[in-house]
This record gives sequence, structure tokens and C-alpha cells, in this order.
Amino acid sequence: MRKTAQKIVPPWHRRYNFHGVNTVKAIYPGSFDPVTNGHLDLIARGSKIFDHLVVAILRNSSKYPLFSVEDRLEMLTEGVASFGNVSVATFDGLLVDFAREQNAQAVMRGIRAISDYEYELQMALMNRRLAPELETIFLMPDGKYSFVSSRLVKEVFELGGSVDGLVPKWVIDRLKQRVPKS
Ligand code: PNS
Repeated sequence: MRKTAQKIVPPWHRRYNFHGVNTVKAIYPGSFDPVTNGHLDLIARGSKIFDHLVVAILRNSSKYPLFSVEDRLEMLTEGVASFGNVSVATFDGLLVDFAREQNAQAVMRGIRAISDYEYELQMALMNRRLAPELETIFLMPDGKYSFVSSRLVKEVFELGGSVDGLVPKWVIDRLKQRVPKS
């Protein structure tokens, strides 16, 4: 049974654990500038579905981030500490190359509202063209986070509004350090 599966499926597509059971590793890529409670809600959901989830911060983004990659890595590491099967990494270049390096079979992305769908579909289909063996899985965060984005969190905080409940406490502490008081 196991041998047949290995013959059909390319080696990077399937992994077996100690007991010979097929395991699924997924990458959750993003900018995470900064991580929000919506991201953490998705990570919690992904950790229940996948055997191993790698949260991957894009290094070479064309956007101008508020936080350095190292700061984002630290904030995310704190956020995933309670999950035994979630790790945090950074990557450069194409996501599909990173996924192959990691021997991952899936990419996890969140869809908060229908407005996210078009962009996410384009990325998923481009990634499929580049790496047909890699599946993109969309998950929805809890409805209470459907309006939460890193961009809005930064904007509201910078203008003096409260972001309590939208990001973890340690992110608020970092925002206070990073954003000068007006
Ligand atoms: O949090 P974001 O900014 O929406 O994440 C976008 C991200 C990092 C998932 C996307 O920009 C990406 O995968 N970049 C890596 C470069 C790449 O593979 N580009 C082609 C994607 S179709």
C-alpha cells in the first residue's frame, strides 16, 4: 500500500512519520507586520488540521514594513509558543521554492471576506502553475476578526486609537516602542 503510493506521488509530495503514516506539512506565508489575533486564530485552526505548520515571514517584500523581520519573527514566535506543531521561519524569493525546500505539501492562507478572494485566487493559481504538486488551502478566521488587518491595526494605533483585542498584548507593547507618541 505504502509502496504504491510512493511510486505514483513525487517524493517531495508525501512524507511519512515514524509509524509510516502520511503526514501533511503546510506553510502559512505572509508579511505579519505585525501578527494580529486574526493570524493567530488561523494558526490555531491550521495546527489542528496539519501535522506541521510553518509560519513563514517574507523577507524581500516590496512593502515598507513597520517592524523589522527580526521583530516580526520574535512576535510570531511568542504567538505560536503554545502549539507543539507550529514553527516560524523567514523566506526570500518564491514561496513555491521555499515550500519545496521545506518538503511541504500545502500552503495555508486566510480569507476574511469575499474581497480577499480575488487576490488569493490569483496567487493560488499562479503558485499551482509554478508547483502543481502544492495545494493551497483557504481557512476562515473567526468572524470577529473579519475586519482585522495588520495595515488597519497600524493605522489605528498610529492615530491614537485602541487596538485592544485585535493584537496580542506583546504586540501592543512593541507598537508602543515603535510608534512615537504624537
Ligand atoms: O501578508 P501578505 O503580504 O498578504 O502575504 C503575501 C505573500 C507573502 C504570501 C506573497 O507576497 C508571497 O508569497 N510572496 C513570495 C513571492 C512569490 O512567491 N510571489 C508569487 C506569488 S503568486
